[in-house]
Amino acid sequence: MAAWQPLHSLSTTAWLAAGFLSLALLHLLCCSPPVTQHAVFTPLLQFANTTFSSLSSSGRSFSCDYSEGRWVWAPGRARRYNATACGVKEGQDCLRNGRPDTGYLDWRWQPAAAGCPLQAFDAAAFLDAVRGRHVAFVGDSMARNQAESLFCLLSAASPHRVVHRDPDAHRRQFMRWAFPAHGVTLSVYWAPYLARSAGKSENYSMPYNLVHLDAPADRWAANADTMDVVVLAAGHWLLNSAVYHNGSRVIGAHAHPELNHTDIGYAAPLRQAYRTALERLSSSSGGRRPRTVVLATFSPTHFENNRMDDPAACARKEPYRDGEKELNSVEEELRSIVVEEAEAAAARRNAGDVRFEVLDVTKLAAMRPDGHPGPYMNRDPFAHGARERMQTDCLHFCLPGPVDTFNEILQQILTKRRW
Ligand SMILES: *[C@@H]1O[C@H](CO)[C@@H](O)[C@H](O)[C@H]1NC(C)=O
Ligand SMILES: *[C@@H]1O[C@H](CO)[C@@H](O)[C@H](O)[C@H]1NC(C)=O
Ligand SMILES: *[C@@H]1O[C@H](CO)[C@@H](O)[C@H](O)[C@H]1NC(C)=O
Ligand SMILES: *[C@@H]1O[C@H](CO)[C@@H](O)[C@H](O)[C@H]1NC(C)=O
Ligand SMILES: *[C@@H]1O[C@H](CO)[C@@H](O)[C@H](O)[C@H]1NC(C)=O
Repeated sequence: MAAWQPLHSLSTTAWLAAGFLSLALLHLLCCSPPVTQHAVFTPLLQFANTTFSSLSSSGRSFSCDYSEGRWVWAPGRARRYNATACGVKEGQDCLRNGRPDTGYLDWRWQPAAAGCPLQAFDAAAFLDAVRGRHVAFVGDSMARNQAESLFCLLSAASPHRVVHRDPDAHRRQFMRWAFPAHGVTLSVYWAPYLARSAGKSENYSMPYNLVHLDAPADRWAANADTMDVVVLAAGHWLLNSAVYHNGSRVIGAHAHPELNHTDIGYAAPLRQAYRTALERLSSSSGGRRPRTVVLATFSPTHFENNRMDDPAACARKEPYRDGEKELNSVEEELRSIVVEEAEAAAARRNAGDVRFEVLDVTKLAAMRPDGHPGPYMNRDPFAHGARERMQTDCLHFCLPGPVDTFNEILQQILTKRRW
């Protein structure tokens, strides 16, 4: 399959540049060690000409396309929960951490499609739609960001309890919550490659990741049969240095030339990681309840001057306006791969017991440079004055924040159609 050929058209320099950026990104993606890398990302990558068809616009699934649109001023729209009270990761609790401006909470997403306003999140309706079900998020820290948003949105409206939360607050690899009144379980499994991985993803002092693309990561795969709704989100880690395996065979590497393996880039491994995950979720559904698999597309970062340690890296106070910000070629490609793999899985799977949906958030997330913690990933970051270099998060979103909109769209996906 072409997906496994090395992409000779892309220069090694580009991979290396992407590798340096991603090295620096690790402090956000993983365990928050001190920032040591300056990153300069050179967008040398060729522009991928992709067709933006999506399941949602093809008419095969639900009828509204929420992927295109604009953010419109809506005071008070998004102050729906107290993130401290629902226990979100501290690095994303921007209000607690002292972020002084709150205008980023006052926007709602207005889809471009006529007759398709995006309804505000309705916790009671969401819980009704997933009554008796296990809703699982699987993927990188953006999957966790969205899962924590969903927990906060739901817990503000219904009795709940924490079933499990990893004791190491910096890692949070597995969490589970219960909503007993509706018999709903909500889980999040950290699996940055979806596939089985070791090395840097487990231990930051390792030089690279070791990824087994033929095997889904153990923890979520072991529980896959219990999952009724699965939201998959991965992509950022694929830009990191890694050696990729199929069984015991090395297929290639990315951004790690020291080992002399062929650099296979990030696109082919991402595709294969999704295929392996979707195969796991397509199997073993016989005789069980129908399953919905939702593939969330790539959520871009906003390190505006490509500096990871600049307190002003994402200092904007408002969303981008329509046309102000275009996706770069990597973001477009990472988004397209997910859309294409969802379509391919849907085409392979005509029997109605697993449905595949795309949660296409790339555009709406790209337009929200104002919604990240920035330096407010740490508590009161300017208490001792401003420094030239500070830890800055322009990847995840503040909670509450724009990621709540991901869950508004998820709600539409889950309620527009019968089980
Ligand atoms: C992309 O490909 C389509 C069809 O092959 C073509 O019509 C379109 O002009 C191309 N777009 C760009 C930006 O190259
Ligand atoms: C949010 O909850 C925390 C802890 O429960 C509490 O200390 C804080 O005052 C609350 N904040 C607001 C704005 O209500
Ligand atoms: C992480 O890796 C380093 C270097 O390889 C090693 O010394 C250390 O023991 C590892 N830590 C854990 C917790 O495995
Ligand atoms: C992995 O190896 C198996 C068995 O040798 C082979 O059938 C499969 O096509 C390989 N997959 C990839 C993605 O290389
Ligand atoms: C990679 O290739 C270089 C040059 O041929 C060689 O010196 C080096 O030992 C090789 N590294 C590994 C890990 O095989």
